[in-house]
Amino acid sequence: MTAATDAGTATGPRFRALLPDPADGVDPVAAYAYPEGLTRPWLRANMVASADGGAWGPSGRTRELSSPPDRTVMGVLRGQADVVLAGAGTARIEGYRPVRPRGVWGGLREGRPPTPPIAVVTRSLDVHPDLLAAPEHARTIVFTTASAPADRRRAAARTADVVVAGEDSVRPEAVLEGLAGRGLLRVLTEGGPHLLAEFAAADALDELCLTVSPHLLGPAAARIVAGDAPSHTRDLRLAAALESEGSLFLRYVRG
Ligand SMILES: NC(=O)c1ccc[n+]([C@@H]2O[C@H](COP(=O)([O-])OP(=O)(O)OC[C@H]3O[C@@H](n4cnc5c(N)ncnc54)[C@H](OP(=O)(O)O)[C@@H]3O)[C@@H](O)[C@H]2O)c1
Repeated sequence: MTAATDAGTATGPRFRALLPDPADGVDPVAAYAYPEGLTRPWLRANMVASADGGAWGPSGRTRELSSPPDRTVMGVLRGQADVVLAGAGTARIEGYRPVRPRGVWGGLREGRPPTPPIAVVTRSLDVHPDLLAAPEHARTIVFTTASAPADRRRAAARTADVVVAGEDSVRPEAVLEGLAGRGLLRVLTEGGPHLLAEFAAADALDELCLTVSPHLLGPAAARIVAGDAPSHTRDLRLAAALESEGSLFLRYVRG
């Protein structure tokens, strides 16, 4: 989860489009624009998987799967988003902090706050204090449950925007309603696999941006959708494919 490099310049990773139309020197900022004129939240997920489908490396984190172009895409997607949504497991393991501005954004955030807030989903409210102390324009949003410890909820509410979005489990629909009520329609979820499973099971996922990284991980790592959420079949349509430094950047939308 490091800063993006300068994509679109001579020094950043170069992307070539494979689909829908082959092209060299593709600008990822243009390639990953959200649909225009949204009137409801558009939920985009950005995930990385190994060639054999694993979602994390031997470190227990995604860093072995990532690469300069992957970090560039991640930075661009954050810049495109109104809000970055993550499960608390990912926030803890990947060390989430408030989003920092990236050089690659250029004019991407014109007319919007300089950085998007993080929205974190948690029952335990075990969220790093630095994540709860974001700048005012990007106040962290905490989606939690009525059954969460009341003292932790009160403590978090001193600096963050705390929303009760379910009794024992945060409901995906309530999260999207809460974000829409704050005018945050371009939603980027970065997982993790448990949270993604719940949004997918609720049929709330509009788009999946998947980096396929050129590694084999073996059976120890979960897939990018994991956990106890009900199994389901959702058809996806491959809308675009980019390549850079051996990684594939696939963009799927609802079938
Ligand atoms: N390959 C990728 O693109 C990718 C992306 C992200 C993460 N990862 C990896 O995935 C692993 C973490 O996976 P994960 O699936 O456990 O992470 P996760 O989905 O981010 O986090 C799970 C946690 O989120 C909270 N949560 C999820 N659904 C909830 C609900 N309905 N109501 C209330 N709270 C809810 C709970 O937090 P509390 O425990 O606080 O209650 C739960 O323990 C790490 O190894 C990370 O590196 C991979």
